[in-house]
Amino acid sequence: MFGAVAAAVALLITWLPRSASEQADRIDFVFWFVTAICIAIFALVAAVIVYAVFNFRAGPDDDSDGPPVHGHTGLEIVWTAVPAVLVTAISIVSAVVLARNEHIPRAVAGSPNALKPLVVDVTAQQFAWLFKYPGYENATSSTLRLPVDTTVQLRLSALDVLHSFWVPEFGQKQDAVPGLVTKLVITPKRLGTFPVICTELCGLGHAVMRSEAEVMTAAKFEQWATSQKAGGGGGAPSAKTLFVSNGCNGCHTFKPAGANGKVGPDLDKLAEEARQAGKPLEEFIRESIVNPNAYVAPGYPKGLMPGTYAGLPQAQLDALVKFLADGSKQ
Ligand code: CUA
Repeated sequence: MFGAVAAAVALLITWLPRSASEQADRIDFVFWFVTAICIAIFALVAAVIVYAVFNFRAGPDDDSDGPPVHGHTGLEIVWTAVPAVLVTAISIVSAVVLARNEHIPRAVAGSPNALKPLVVDVTAQQFAWLFKYPGYENATSSTLRLPVDTTVQLRLSALDVLHSFWVPEFGQKQDAVPGLVTKLVITPKRLGTFPVICTELCGLGHAVMRSEAEVMTAAKFEQWATSQKAGGGGGAPSAKTLFVSNGCNGCHTFKPAGANGKVGPDLDKLAEEARQAGKPLEEFIRESIVNPNAYVAPGYPKGLMPGTYAGLPQAQLDALVKFLADGSKQ
């Protein structure tokens, strides 16, 4: 009966998101394997306790001591051996799943494109994600686009503080650490759009440090990636691309860039803000990027915007200032 109740709690409530990757399937298997063992042990222990409570109950006027018991060698061997076997089984299953989840199949000569592992460089910064495709001339995207049924290796890095990459439907988390490249292997098996969540407290905008992972057919992905390559290849990247690739969209709303971040001030109101600060528009924008604490918009704390943008190349800074100034005059 206890087993049935525990099994119902485990099975009737959807505890886990529906898996969208081969890795998540394997993790779910380990999870259910351990849960089944736990339910069996729980049912056994609960049954023995209830049986003992009813069958060995002392009478209301029974003040005598219980009979002295000096252990039971057979029983002790059993309750040592059974957990040892179970723990060993769990270790082996977990080790196999871990090894398989980190495995990247080698590209087979002459195989269709879908079997080639795809590398995506993931850059995390306060408070945005950037995805770069080295196999497609470093095409960049603020959403993670992946072809279905293809093994993908993410190479994660962080520009400022610790972040952590998590797509619940993919079943795994991986930290992005400044100064390190961490890796994560994903083989998406289901088409759809899933949330990308930062799951390491990284500052005021942590809760909104989100993006999306879009799993598309291999043909559609190829088409998208190739078009990105054609657009971004050669010459300087457009100011709109710079706005996204530097993560500005993570925190700011700015209509010309299609950005609707809510952590920092609304950049559509830059002209008004410059007037309040009493500075010419372009000068105000440049100062706000390079030295964000020189003027802090009312209602926002000092030090919210990272100071890392002082290191932007001059040409990129000029392009961004012009983009923002032109966009906010309209
Ligand atoms: Cu990035 Cu939390």
